Amino acid sequence: MEKLIISGGTPLKGTVHISGSKNSALPIIAATLLTAEPCVIRGVPNLSDIDTMVRILKFLGVEASFDAKHGILHICAEHPLGVAPYEWVRKMRASVCLLGPLLARLKKTKVSLPGGCVIGDRPIDLHIKGLRRLGAQISVENGYVYAQCKELVGTDVFLCGRFGSTVLGTANILMAASLAKGTTTIESAACEPEVEDLANFLNKMGAKIKGAGSHIIEVEGVKQLHGAEHTVISDRIEAGTFMVAAAITGGDIEIKGAHAEHLCAMRDKLEESGTEIQRTNGSIRVRGRGNLTSTDVITMPYPGFPTDMQAQMSALMTLTPGISVITEKVFPNRFMHLSEMARLGANVALEGNSAIIKGVKHLSGAPVMASDLRASAGLVLAGLAAGGETEVNRIYHVDRGYERIDAKLRALGANIERIDE
Ligand code: UD1
Repeated sequence: MEKLIISGGTPLKGTVHISGSKNSALPIIAATLLTAEPCVIRGVPNLSDIDTMVRILKFLGVEASFDAKHGILHICAEHPLGVAPYEWVRKMRASVCLLGPLLARLKKTKVSLPGGCVIGDRPIDLHIKGLRRLGAQISVENGYVYAQCKELVGTDVFLCGRFGSTVLGTANILMAASLAKGTTTIESAACEPEVEDLANFLNKMGAKIKGAGSHIIEVEGVKQLHGAEHTVISDRIEAGTFMVAAAITGGDIEIKGAHAEHLCAMRDKLEESGTEIQRTNGSIRVRGRGNLTSTDVITMPYPGFPTDMQAQMSALMTLTPGISVITEKVFPNRFMHLSEMARLGANVALEGNSAIIKGVKHLSGAPVMASDLRASAGLVLAGLAAGGETEVNRIYHVDRGYERIDAKLRALGANIERIDE
């Protein structure tokens, strides 16, 4: 198993290029199941989650070839099978977004329930409710979702749950509604840029979708979709992670290829905490000034502060003088990283779904264990700022969502090495 060894304390300086968005690419790859014609997806990051999705599609009989060096995926789902088994779905919860396109294309599908995950309960009741509204008969038995329909029929679908809208639930309904008869109105749709990117791809395939990126999306169903080419948007969470890397190390990083408009909540909170951020044409320059001020952060659906940046922001707060509070409103139990940060000397306490973080003068390196994708990013950031050596174990989590994170950090001056035990 591989781990990262970090000797912290170096201010990171230089330029980093942001990769394509994992969370855009995954549902877009699933959407290629909606047509028998070839599709070409560009800007696909070379990540283990992408590899898993491509393998699942190949398992379904889809022709797929990924040029990882250039991020180009050729895909053709001429005769896909309709069964996504547990062995695959359990590897990656995002494979639940196969449900909508398989149902719409084949009228009958069986997709494993994704199961729990370390960041908390992850039900799919809203996905099921939405597909039922479109006329699907759905039963959940033996750990599988069985879905079938004679045809899908457009209607209004309300997708708000206890924790707000659902990103992949919106993606599933968007994909299914694209091939439904008549018009579907998705109310309380997720507004995340990744949903808008998926809608743009579907429109290139011939779908008629309006309003993606807002809470109300209208989908006029079409009989058939055709092949299309698309370049995925850049990864706002990777960009946000490098923004925090500059702030936490007191560095100066130019972030290229990021969509600044997707990073407003991040920018706002980092500026509030005393980090300097300049937006120039096509890049964002982030300078950590060293004299940080405590902040309060509440994670929320987009355009609020992303839950996927909570662990990274927590890392910064551990070194921010005063008391910072970070409240998790999307996945209330997503705090596994905090006890690992405490091993580095962080002063943290949990109070319900809020972490109360009292800034310390310095962190000191220690072995830590990554528990999930973003938690591991938070630990890497803490290690970059800690004195001495930090060993981040189980970094297969980080490789699920960050393309060559160690190489990118090394190019910015970090003392970081990947070793195989
Ligand atoms: C997506 C992202 C993930 C991010 C999350 C929230 C991908 C591949 N993953 O996950 O990185 O952290 O959005 O921004 O894009 N919920 C229900 N019922 C449902 C579905 C969700 O109650 O049927 C709840 C969830 O438990 C959670 C909240 O709604 O509390 C948001 O989850 P959701 O937006 O669905 O997350 P994902 O789409 O799985």
